[in-house]
Amino acid sequence: MSDLNSVEINKRSRLRNDKDYIHIFKYMGSKRELLPEIKEVIATMIEPNDGILDIFAGTGNVGNYLKNDYNIYTNDIQEYTRVITDSIIGASQYKELPSVKATLSELRNHYLSHKKSLSSMLVNTLKISNSFINIEKNSWDEEKRLLYKEFCNSLPSPVNGYATENEEFNRLFNIYLDRSESKNNSFPYCQITFLFSETYFSLEQTIDIDSLKYAIDKTLTHKIFKNVYLSALIHAFSYSSSGTGHFAMFRDLVDVKSVEDTFIYRSKSVWELFEKKLHEIYEYHKFIPNLKYEAYNMDYSVLLKNREIAQNYKLIYADPPYSSVHYSRFYHAIESLVKYDYDIPTFKGRYRSDRHQSPFCQKQNVKGAFELLFRLAKENSASLLLSYADTGMIDLDTIIEISEHNGFKTSVVSIDYDHSTMGRKGHKSNRIKEYLVKSEFPDSFYLVQ
Ligand SMILES: C[S@@+](CC[C@H](N)C(=O)[O-])C[C@H]1O[C@@H](n2cnc3c(N)ncnc32)[C@H](O)[C@@H]1O
Repeated sequence: MSDLNSVEINKRSRLRNDKDYIHIFKYMGSKRELLPEIKEVIATMIEPNDGILDIFAGTGNVGNYLKNDYNIYTNDIQEYTRVITDSIIGASQYKELPSVKATLSELRNHYLSHKKSLSSMLVNTLKISNSFINIEKNSWDEEKRLLYKEFCNSLPSPVNGYATENEEFNRLFNIYLDRSESKNNSFPYCQITFLFSETYFSLEQTIDIDSLKYAIDKTLTHKIFKNVYLSALIHAFSYSSSGTGHFAMFRDLVDVKSVEDTFIYRSKSVWELFEKKLHEIYEYHKFIPNLKYEAYNMDYSVLLKNREIAQNYKLIYADPPYSSVHYSRFYHAIESLVKYDYDIPTFKGRYRSDRHQSPFCQKQNVKGAFELLFRLAKENSASLLLSYADTGMIDLDTIIEISEHNGFKTSVVSIDYDHSTMGRKGHKSNRIKEYLVKSEFPDSFYLVQ
């Protein structure tokens, strides 16, 4: 383990709130709290205006934090990442965003007419759903809980094979199947309503989400500007959901308390959350002349094998998953919102049929995945900065060994850190060590190339 150079930085858990950061949604493994340390280490590895590839970008926090000083290329296997990085990094390539007042006014008209139409197709079910929302917080009891569960179970789901007595939803299912087969979407949009009503959201909230998605598609054509609005919708989606910030499974409503907790979120206004975040993104927006930016949406190894793209970056920032939990399971609902392809899930949790299984989350494949990452970085003559935790799937010594085996001069910065465990209330975090593993070429490497 030559050249191991460990620096200890003690860190309390804190919520980042500075002008270079914008929060879109809560994400497992987000590097939000480590951004200054990552920036500091990167400054020791490359020159200003060099290109960085944030290859497991997630929320795009890291690339976004660095965009004033470097050209930024992002990638993630999940498509929602590109929507977010377009909205916060890509938008900086433009002097101005389209007028928020005029765009919102047009968008609101489309939203309202869509909402009216979709609601009229579900008028009876909507009445029942709203009657539960109208129950006062402290008046829930066992009888009402059972009635609500019965209502939830009466809706189509993978558990009942999407077959129900509810005529309105049966009609919607036929539309859904048609669109799923033909890959054509049209008015009225209904994917979120069909898949997620009375699970993570109330029926009215899902109608609002579909109506907003429709309105965005109808109002905006420019890819980056559209993604600014979609990002605000992802925020509203995430914060109106009754999950704990992810979508691994909705609450089972086993007692009155869990129903009461769920209904705190049922009454959140999707439109208000959307509009507030949109204004925040507009205020945050800053024009950065000469910023080069591109977002990719593919497996890390496929991207690293592309030699033309490799010309653009000098450093790969790699923040792969640490645990056996697949992101495609935790964030499938956001992926469905973005892809909007009328996928037909087969599990109770409504996970997507094409969900990705990452080798970094699999004990038998993780070492091979790291070997490939370091080998391809070397072949691209790029330095590598890896973020990893001491609770990860593979230990630090093995990572250092792989790095050195590929000829990299390797050193480690170690940070004590309170890691969020994705709870919604109270202090839910674990004390862990986060590593920044620096893999650079020794000067002699360039001589033998
Ligand atoms: C720890 S998170 C990244 C968090 C990010 N740095 C942030 O601050 O938001 C890991 C990311 O790797 C992505 N991922 C997992 N396997 C992948 C693969 N084979 N290729 C590309 N991305 C992958 C996941 O979708 C997830 O967004």
